[in-house]
Amino acid sequence: MPEPLKASFWNTKYLTNDFGWDIGYPSPPITEYIDQLQDKSISILIPGCGNGYEAEYLWKSGFKNVHVLDYSEIALENFRLRVPEFPIEQIHIEDFFTHTGQYSIIFEQTFFCALEPSLRLAYAIKVKNLLKPGGKLVGLLFNEALHADRPPYGGSSLEYLGYFQPHFNNVYMKNCFNSIQPRMGRELFVIFS
Ligand SMILES: C[S@@+](CC[C@H](N)C(=O)[O-])C[C@H]1O[C@@H](n2cnc3c(N)ncnc32)[C@H](O)[C@@H]1O
Repeated sequence: MPEPLKASFWNTKYLTNDFGWDIGYPSPPITEYIDQLQDKSISILIPGCGNGYEAEYLWKSGFKNVHVLDYSEIALENFRLRVPEFPIEQIHIEDFFTHTGQYSIIFEQTFFCALEPSLRLAYAIKVKNLLKPGGKLVGLLFNEALHADRPPYGGSSLEYLGYFQPHFNNVYMKNCFNSIQPRMGRELFVIFS
């Protein structure tokens, strides 16, 4: 069983530019989803947001009730410097599992796969507790084995069903058709409400 990962593990990666997961721009499947949202006043959380490109996209698209969360202060400092007008009280330097709040949408992008698999059920329950009635988790989950001993940890739709189905009324998972090229055919687009 690997050691639980700490903020220092991720801080080191950001400081040494060792962040292969970071695509450098907002993820197209997520921006396409965002582009069809009508109500820009909804509360949105992006946990494990890293450099936060999707949050920047939301903010610049007029969504003002957007919250970013990461326990790496380096990642969030990068975000703050890039988007200085983003409200400081909506930037949470915090462990996801201790965060409190109520959101209409929680976006997922390479955060779930960064957590030890032993935390997956806890993630599903935490997401449920952070969602308002009718709220949704929306985003991307890898659909392949990847690593067993370090992030990114992989998985399959069958495994994910086991965590989410008991806690959500609707569990939508489909092969993602608009992934970035290196992830094409390797991820699921999910909406759990
Ligand atoms: C693989 S990176 C993904 C970052 C971003 N979502 C992206 O796609 O570029 C995982 C991120 O989750 C953060 N993280 C991991 N475990 C966390 C936890 N328990 N609470 C808050 N953030 C966490 C790390 O600091 C890191 O920034």
